[in-house]
Amino acid sequence: MNFEFTEEQLAVRDAARDFAQKELLPEVIERDIHQKFPAEQVRKMGELGFMGMMVDPKYGGGGMDTVSYVLAMEEISKIDASASVVMSVNNSLVCWGLETYGTEAQKQKYLVPLAKGEIIGAFCLSEPEAGSDATSQRTTAEDKGDYYLLNGTKNWITNGGTASVYLVIAQTHPEKKHKGINCLIVEKGMAGFVVGKKEDKMGIRGSDTHSLMFNDVKVPKENRIGDDGFGFTFAMSTLNGGRVGIAAQALGIASGAYELAVKYSKERKAFGQEIYKHQAIAFKLADMATKIEAARLLCLQAAYLKDQHLDFSMQGAMAKLFASQIANEVATEAVQVHGGYGYVREYHVERLMRDAKITQIYEGTSEIQKIVISRSILK
Ligand code: CAA
Repeated sequence: MNFEFTEEQLAVRDAARDFAQKELLPEVIERDIHQKFPAEQVRKMGELGFMGMMVDPKYGGGGMDTVSYVLAMEEISKIDASASVVMSVNNSLVCWGLETYGTEAQKQKYLVPLAKGEIIGAFCLSEPEAGSDATSQRTTAEDKGDYYLLNGTKNWITNGGTASVYLVIAQTHPEKKHKGINCLIVEKGMAGFVVGKKEDKMGIRGSDTHSLMFNDVKVPKENRIGDDGFGFTFAMSTLNGGRVGIAAQALGIASGAYELAVKYSKERKAFGQEIYKHQAIAFKLADMATKIEAARLLCLQAAYLKDQHLDFSMQGAMAKLFASQIANEVATEAVQVHGGYGYVREYHVERLMRDAKITQIYEGTSEIQKIVISRSILK
């Protein structure tokens, strides 16, 4: 097995690191406090090719591999997990789904501007009564001949207010259960589509998370992705890749917190010496570094398998399960290393600790990852 990155992969990582330091870091605390969407920063991420990294250049994408995507996600997430979730949803859930399963017309109309970062997309699966239990979709897409009549509510939708294009999962044939579900492309501005309240969140506060209401929205038939009834399979296979992105986000949160802890431990003195010279701190740093390295290897393994077009659903779930767990552990320990300073905003680690929690909840809770993993190993 080759653990070396290519020059191109390293260049992507360095560009993401540079961008995060120069463009994301300066106002990240302000955006967190005021729940301000990083609009200007996301626009620049589009210009740099971070919004459609893996999309074929003929559709406006960067034509990069998933390993590069993981490296970029880690760097962006070290500094601003709110910006990285915007990036992750656009890349993994929206662009990938459209490129893999969309028609040529859908790709030209929607994928090209999404991959260039000119517009942002959202993935709408979760409902007030269907989060983990995704087959129980209450949103309906009634077949009316040349259009679908869409009715229902979606909850906790990342990019809910800022997106222009929404991939909406809805039930067309309830008697067929999950095989009767469709995915429709809905545009902001379609009559009857209402963006609901913005959630006031514990973490990733710069990202905008909304409920969405669909009241008799007429969605043209040509906006359905795949064959009739393909929507649930579409959602599941899209989420397989999404979980690699969120695993990389969790990895980035962990490594961002760790780097801050290392820096602080070399600056802060207690009992006559820098605190890293105390074993109590050095051992914490050793544990953090080991966990991060293990999470990184899981993320890269899942990315590598995806790039080889091999089944990576179990490895993606393992990467997300483990990376999200250690992100919480590492960020909490990073606060501990900082002592009282860790508990105040300007040292950044308290934000990373709050941001870490969502990685155990969205794109499938940790419990859902265990379902995916256990079904894979026991089948
Ligand atoms: N990959 C591909 N197909 C899968 C799959 C996977 N990981 N998991 C299930 N499927 C397929 C099954 O093969 C099955 O298809 P067939 O009937 O054709 O064989 C079908 O989906 C139904 O599967 P199950 O019978 O296993 O369904 P289930 O109800 O027992 O469990 C589940 C399915 C894995 C629990 C699924 O409901 C699930 O993943 N739930 C979590 C949903 C989720 O991740 N939501 C996140 C919302 S998106 C988000 O958070 C984005 C954001 O804003 C950041």
